[in-house]
Amino acid sequence: MLDLVIKNGLVVTKTGTARMDVGVVDEKILLVEPEIDDRPATRTIDATDKIVFPGFIDAHTHMGIPIMGTRSIDDFESGSIAAACGGVTTIIDFTVQEPGQTLQESIDVRLAKADGKSHIDYALHVNVTDQPQARVAEIPAIVEQGFSAFKVFSTYKQAGMMIAWPEFRNVLEAVQRQGALLCLHAEDDATVEKDTAANIVAKRRAAICHPRSRTPAAEAMAITQAADIARELGAQLYIVHLSSKAGLDAALAAREQGAKLILETCPQYLVLSEACYLKENGHHWITTPPLRTEEDCEALWDALSQGQIDVVATDHCPFTRSQKDDNSGRFHLTPNGIPGVETLFPLLYTYGVAEGRLSLERLVQVLATNPARIFGFCGQKGVIEIGADADFTIWDPEKEWRIKPELLHGNADWSPYVGMTILGAVAQTILRGFVLAEYGDFVGTAVRGNLVLKNESNQTLRN
Ligand code: URP
Ligand code: ZN
Ligand code: ZN
Repeated sequence: MLDLVIKNGLVVTKTGTARMDVGVVDEKILLVEPEIDDRPATRTIDATDKIVFPGFIDAHTHMGIPIMGTRSIDDFESGSIAAACGGVTTIIDFTVQEPGQTLQESIDVRLAKADGKSHIDYALHVNVTDQPQARVAEIPAIVEQGFSAFKVFSTYKQAGMMIAWPEFRNVLEAVQRQGALLCLHAEDDATVEKDTAANIVAKRRAAICHPRSRTPAAEAMAITQAADIARELGAQLYIVHLSSKAGLDAALAAREQGAKLILETCPQYLVLSEACYLKENGHHWITTPPLRTEEDCEALWDALSQGQIDVVATDHCPFTRSQKDDNSGRFHLTPNGIPGVETLFPLLYTYGVAEGRLSLERLVQVLATNPARIFGFCGQKGVIEIGADADFTIWDPEKEWRIKPELLHGNADWSPYVGMTILGAVAQTILRGFVLAEYGDFVGTAVRGNLVLKNESNQTLRN
C-alpha cells in the first residue's frame, strides 16, 4: 500500500525531465517509474499537464530577527506557511548570536523558536557575530551535531556584527578544517560607512541614497578581500546575496585565480531595480545589499543561466509598511529587508523559465539540488530519487495570476513584487508525503517541520 501516488506529471530532476509516476511510503520516495500500475494508494494526485519539481529549498531566510529596534515580522509559523504556499519545503534560517552568547546558546534559542512552529523542514546557518575569535573553539562540536554552515558579516560594524579580516581568516580556517562551509555577507564596511556619512551630512536621506551608500564597489571590494584569504587557505567560501555586476566580476576574477567561491543571488537582484527607491514608498524596498540597475540584473541573469551563480535564495526578512514608515525619509534608519519566500519559485519560473533564461533543470539545480548538495542534505532533499524525502512542488503552468499582498500568506502587508504577473501556480506543495498547500490555500493539518542536519560532507561544487 502506497501513502501517495503522483501520476502523469512531468518530473524534473537536475539532469532531465520525463513523464513519470512517483510513489511515496513512510514519507520517502519509493518509486519513480514511467507508470505505477494499480498498486493501491491512500491518496492519488493526478498531475496531468503539470510539472512535478522536488520541493524547493530557500537557503537564506530571517524569521523574526532583531533589526534596528524592531523584528522581522514573520516567525517560523507564518513564514513557513508562506513558504509552503510558494512551493518551498525547506528553509535555511540563521541563528542570532546575542552579545555574550556562545554559539551553542544561540543555536538552542533559535531551535526553540522553530520547534513545533515550522510547518516545513528547516535548517540553521550559525551566525558568528560576537567575539568571533573566542568562538572558534566551539566550531568542531557544532559541526559534530550536524550544522553544516556558519555565517559572518564584513559589515554592520555599528550593529556589533562585523568580523575583521584577521578573525575572518581564523573562523574560515576552523570551519574548513571541520569540512563545513562559511557564508559571507560581503560589503566593505569602511566604504559603506564613508559613503553613508557623506549622504547623511549632505542631508541626502531619501531611499535612493541607500544604493548610493552601499555601492557595488563596496560589495566587490569585500568579495576580493575575502576571496584572497579563502584562496590562500584553499577553503570554499559561500557569498550570500550577490547583488551587482561589479560584485559578480570580482567573484569571477577571484575564481579565475583559484578561489573556490560559491555564489548565491536573490530574486530582488534579478527582477527589481533601484528605480523602486524612486516610488512613492520607495523606502519599503530598502534591503541590504540594495537593489541595483537593470544592467546589474541582466549580468546576474546571464551568470545564473551560464552556471556561474549556484543558488537563488530570498534573504526573506519582511517588515510591515508601518515598521518601514516609522523612519521614512531617513534611509539609514529604515529597517532593512523585504519579504520573498512565497514568491521565490513563482518569480524564477516566470522570469527565468518562461522567458527562456533558465531550463527547468537549471531551475531545479539553483533552487533545490545545489543548496541540498552545498549544505549537506544530499540524497534527502532537493531531488526526486528513490529514498529521498517525499517533498514535491507541483506546478500548474496553465494558470496566471497577479501578485497582490492579499493573495500572500506572510505577515507583511505589502509585497515588493506587487502587480507582477506570474505564469503558473503552485498546485500542491508536499512535505514528506503530506500536502501542505493547494492553489494558494494552506491545508496543512499538523505542524510537521523537522530540523534537517548535514548527512554527509558538503560536496564540492567548485574545485
Ligand atoms: O536587508 C537585509 N537583507 N536584512 C537581513 C540581514 C542581511 O543582511 O541579510
Ligand atoms: Zn546579509
Ligand atoms: Zn540575510
